[in-house]
Amino acid sequence: MADKRQIELYSLKEVEKIKRACDVVVEVLEEVSRHVKPGISTYELDLIARDVVKSKGAKAAFLNYKPSFSKTPYPAALCVSVNAAVVHGLPKREVILQEGDLVSLDFGAILDGYAGDSAITVPVGNISDDKKRLLKATKEALKEAVKACVPGNWLSDITKAIKKVADKYGVYPVKNLGGHGIGRRVHEPPFVPNHLEDFKYEKDIKLRAGMVLAIEPMLSLGTSDITHDGDQWTVLTADGSPSAHYEYVVAITKDGPMVLTQFREVFFDA
Ligand code: MF3
Ligand code: CO
Repeated sequence: MADKRQIELYSLKEVEKIKRACDVVVEVLEEVSRHVKPGISTYELDLIARDVVKSKGAKAAFLNYKPSFSKTPYPAALCVSVNAAVVHGLPKREVILQEGDLVSLDFGAILDGYAGDSAITVPVGNISDDKKRLLKATKEALKEAVKACVPGNWLSDITKAIKKVADKYGVYPVKNLGGHGIGRRVHEPPFVPNHLEDFKYEKDIKLRAGMVLAIEPMLSLGTSDITHDGDQWTVLTADGSPSAHYEYVVAITKDGPMVLTQFREVFFDA
């Protein structure tokens, strides 16, 4: 059996299959985002995601999935992280969206043995100027991080690209969280740090054609430090400041980065 830490290299044929799973993820996120309005609960958004993924003949990748950092499987299909929630926001009946909220929607799908994973952050009605700046910074960080996905670059070039944009906007990449390899499984090596300090324990590697990475900058308005909510899942900023999160799947090819999560609507007009 292959070493679990070994980085898979995917052929263009396999990349096409990952793209099909990503297409489902994009459709789910676009549909869920249309329902992001004051008054809806994050639980209801999860139900919508479940319906759409089923209608596409695919499976929700996170439902009952047990990531290595957790003792129990994730009990929902969608992660909905509101304001100070960074990622892994557990949908709840009692969390009702309000005007001014910033909502990250993160979804994974499995189709035909391949995985897709993506996230977008959606404003609820009018948001503050600070939150607008955070959104713009996070989109731009993703765009710049994608550009770093070329053979011969280092993994840390992705992290550096995120830092450069965060510094420009005066916002903070969060520590201890990041992107990952993806393909036949939703989480594969390597871990893709969002914060340069994480290279203290994470090995830097050279990027190669055939690697497929989920790149997911998470930025906050106040701090790089995180803490955990009492629900075991929801990750929060340590100071309670808002955070934003975008995630694309990128195949590294000899001709450069190929984005597999192509949103039809303009979520990325930064
Ligand atoms: N999209 C998330 C990530 O890549 C995965 C969530 S795993 C879950 O980090 F189990 F929390 F759903
Ligand atoms: Co991911």
